[in-house]
Amino acid sequence: MNADNPILQVEDLSIALPAGSDRASAVRKVSFTVGRGEIVCLVGESGSGKSVIAQGVMGLLPKQLPITAGRILLQGEDITQAPLSRLRELRATRMSMIFQEPMTALNPVMTCGDQIDEVLAEHTPCRRPSAAPGCAPSSTRCCCPTPNA
Ligand SMILES: Nc1ncnc2c1ncn2[C@@H]1O[C@H](COP(=O)(O)OP(=O)(O)O)[C@@H](O)[C@H]1O
Ligand SMILES: [Mg+2]
Repeated sequence: MNADNPILQVEDLSIALPAGSDRASAVRKVSFTVGRGEIVCLVGESGSGKSVIAQGVMGLLPKQLPITAGRILLQGEDITQAPLSRLRELRATRMSMIFQEPMTALNPVMTCGDQIDEVLAEHTPCRRPSAAPGCAPSSTRCCCPTPNA
């Protein structure tokens, strides 16, 4: 593909809120692009829909928050139309999300190392990544010096 094409295009994205919410839509007609090597920050007050947009990009929206309009193109592929199997291929290989709240995103009864292993074993050829010489340092580089403690 052309190097000038955006990596991510969010076009006129609208995501509904459940009936009885304070408004009809979590986000309405949101558009932005992310180019290769570019960092894009979504800024807005709490509850304005930043996390919901990220969940939409990852295909992780709960059923009660459906995409009602718009498209999300990842390297030209409309992932709002992608089946679950395709989304699973894309996650952790072409797109990833670092969740805001470690207390809810991480499982307190598993070590960080096991949780990193689980993701990499699911999405890469590594079966036991934290034990592999090339993989273990990644967890220590991001301030987790003893991921299997
Ligand atoms: N699972 C959910 N069920 C119902 N409403 C939700 C859910 N998740 C988010 N919302 C609502 O969607 C809106 C956007 O939330 P969110 O994307 O978390 O905001 P931000 O990340 O910008 O703080 C808020 O009104 C929030 O209450
Ligand atoms: Mg948020």
